Amino acid sequence: MNSEEIQKCDAAALCRTYARYPLAVNRGQGTRLFSPEGKVYTDLLAGIAVCNLGHSHPELVEVICAQAKKLIHVSNLFYQEEQVELAKKLLGTCHLDRVFFCNSGAEANEGAIKLARRYMREGRGQERYEIITVTGSFHGRTLATLTATGQDKIKTGFGPLPEGFVTVPFGDLDAMKAAMNDRTAAVLIEMIQGEGGVKPLPEDYARGLAALCAERGVLLMIDEIQTGVGRTGKFWAHQHLGLRPDVVTVAKGLAGGLPMGAVMCTEEVSKGFPPGSHGTTFGGNALISAVAKKVIEIIERDDLCGRAARLGEHLRGRLAALREKFPERIADVRVHGLMVGIELTSPGADVWKALLEKGFVLNLTQDTVLRLLPPLVITEEELDAFAAALEAVLATA
Ligand SMILES: Cc1ncc(COP(=O)(O)O)c(C=O)c1O
Repeated sequence: MNSEEIQKCDAAALCRTYARYPLAVNRGQGTRLFSPEGKVYTDLLAGIAVCNLGHSHPELVEVICAQAKKLIHVSNLFYQEEQVELAKKLLGTCHLDRVFFCNSGAEANEGAIKLARRYMREGRGQERYEIITVTGSFHGRTLATLTATGQDKIKTGFGPLPEGFVTVPFGDLDAMKAAMNDRTAAVLIEMIQGEGGVKPLPEDYARGLAALCAERGVLLMIDEIQTGVGRTGKFWAHQHLGLRPDVVTVAKGLAGGLPMGAVMCTEEVSKGFPPGSHGTTFGGNALISAVAKKVIEIIERDDLCGRAARLGEHLRGRLAALREKFPERIADVRVHGLMVGIELTSPGADVWKALLEKGFVLNLTQDTVLRLLPPLVITEEELDAFAAALEAVLATA
């Protein structure tokens, strides 16, 4: 099918949930995407922080083929070597002790919410079930996770929503303190809001929050679904501040493009998931686990965290110069490794579209923020080419 035919079929057959970009993609190679007509794009989005190793990475393709011939799926009724090997590898990247594998970010956060509630009952014998989140956050689209999400537009029309969720203003520690009471089970929070416009937690706030949670016996659950797996220049964003959350959720980049999520927790908190308490059919199956293990091995071997940090700094220099040149167009530049937000002074659909026409795939979030989440294997030259294209667009827009 050509692009037009694909778009027509899509409009006729699929639910209208997505505001699609005017682009069909039928092949990906490294940092490049190809349309059916053969137009080439530089991918600065990586499937929204998913394809951290780029597209069709030869070593991932090899693992997928080999594992598919050996075993794709049995069930979590069985022990599987691939799953335990991945668990060891993943837990080796942080301070946490146990992991539950699932299939998406929303499912990981849903699992974390269930874990927190049941841990309070079974682990501590306390009736604590409230989950506190902050405004501007995004935690997923299941009923519990959209209730946790601090953006009203995500919730519209889906009520009645589950009870036991409180949202407080972003970055306001006094409001957080005031919201905590003897029903509070956990705080669920992103270190850097992704959908919210690449907005980092202020450092003092993040440290203060961790101390407050420890003092009040509230679980600190960090949603690293977008920031994890090397994206920000360390394997986990919370490691930049040396935080030790009780629970971390991850998905997106974990299995290089195959659907996988995970909830990681301390030994103590894992008491909240006794046998039979939680489960999922596909989570951590042999194929996905083998691929995810390879993803982590490559990230460590090729020091892609260091690469993300270095390339982010390089891009920061280029973008800072553009901000100086176009102060009336660029309001702010936020760079955290290869998680980058360029906040424009006005809605940026025209700039985003012009960049797409020039062959750069990125995302516009919150109307004014150009968001870049490129594969961690992107090159300096590709980032320079993007900066030059953005300069040209801003000069003519
Ligand atoms: C921080 C964060 N949490 C949760 C989610 C939900 O993940 P998924 O779309 O895999 O359900 C996302 C997705 O964008 C996210 O960025």
